[in-house]
Amino acid sequence: MDFKGYTSEKKQLIDQYLNTLLPEANNVPVIIEAMRYSLSAGGKRLRPILALMACDLFKGDPDEVMPFACSIEMIHTYSLIHDDLPAMDNDDLRRGKPTNHKVFGEGFAILAGDALLNYAFELVLEKISENPRPEYIKAAQAIGNAAGISGMIGGQCIDLYYENKEINVELLKTMHNMKTGALISAALYTGAVIAGAAEKDLNNIRRLGSLLGLAFQITDDILDVEGSLEKMGKATHKDQSHRKSNFISFYGLERSKAIAKDLIEEAKAILLEYKDDGSHLIALADYILTRDH
Ligand code: IPE
Ligand code: IPE
Ligand code: MG
Ligand code: MG
Ligand code: MG
Repeated sequence: MDFKGYTSEKKQLIDQYLNTLLPEANNVPVIIEAMRYSLSAGGKRLRPILALMACDLFKGDPDEVMPFACSIEMIHTYSLIHDDLPAMDNDDLRRGKPTNHKVFGEGFAILAGDALLNYAFELVLEKISENPRPEYIKAAQAIGNAAGISGMIGGQCIDLYYENKEINVELLKTMHNMKTGALISAALYTGAVIAGAAEKDLNNIRRLGSLLGLAFQITDDILDVEGSLEKMGKATHKDQSHRKSNFISFYGLERSKAIAKDLIEEAKAILLEYKDDGSHLIALADYILTRDH
């Protein structure tokens, strides 16, 4: 199957699974609707797709990986709801729709984010209690670390702190690795570890995740300058007006593009070892570099 067909099939399976997760309603006002609003608003589903791709690479069972993959998408979605809040990036548009707080108010947006984070671990722990495989526990631990102070939240703290301040290159890379690379790496690792990949392969997957994650955030910074609101489904030209420290503010556009390209080349070189089995991931690496949304 070609790359486009392969990824759109994965995306469809992910959307279907995510749809089955939340209850229709409970006896609490607003929360389920607010969670569902952001979770079903679209989005590329890159992280769960990566988890399923790593699972395929090591010939695992996608049904086993799916709940873990979707827990990462829930955590990612919560991170976007909070990232868009007035206290953070103050954005009005996300995934082509008004941001969560614009529709439900800040209080419910905060709670919907919290609830998605919690639900992610409810889901993972349910799977672990049904079948306490050590690989499930490793995946859950990786997801927890990637979401927390050593990962996404930590990176968001650096991002917030360095608005309007000068950052050094080491910290800039650390920030991107943490705020974006960590969950992307955890997605790949989750798919690989549940599929039973060997330690040597898990090391390759970790390196791959960190290269793709950094390249992904650099291209996000580039698209903030060069992308269009229509394609991205979110406002552009925001980072400069918020005086964000990012790859563009530090290196400028052309140098940032060259750095992203080098990272993608390095990522693709890791995959060569897997011959034909790595071809979809190689295409995905190229997509990260050339994407327009
Ligand atoms: C946006 O992530 C935030 C970043 C980490 C750059 P995505 O570009 O994956 O957003 P969705 O999930 O497709 O909306
Ligand atoms: C967000 O980075 C990273 C997260 C962990 C949510 P950005 O703030 O650049 O993401 P966008 O551009 O709003 O999607
Ligand atoms: Mg941000
Ligand atoms: Mg933002
Ligand atoms: Mg951005």
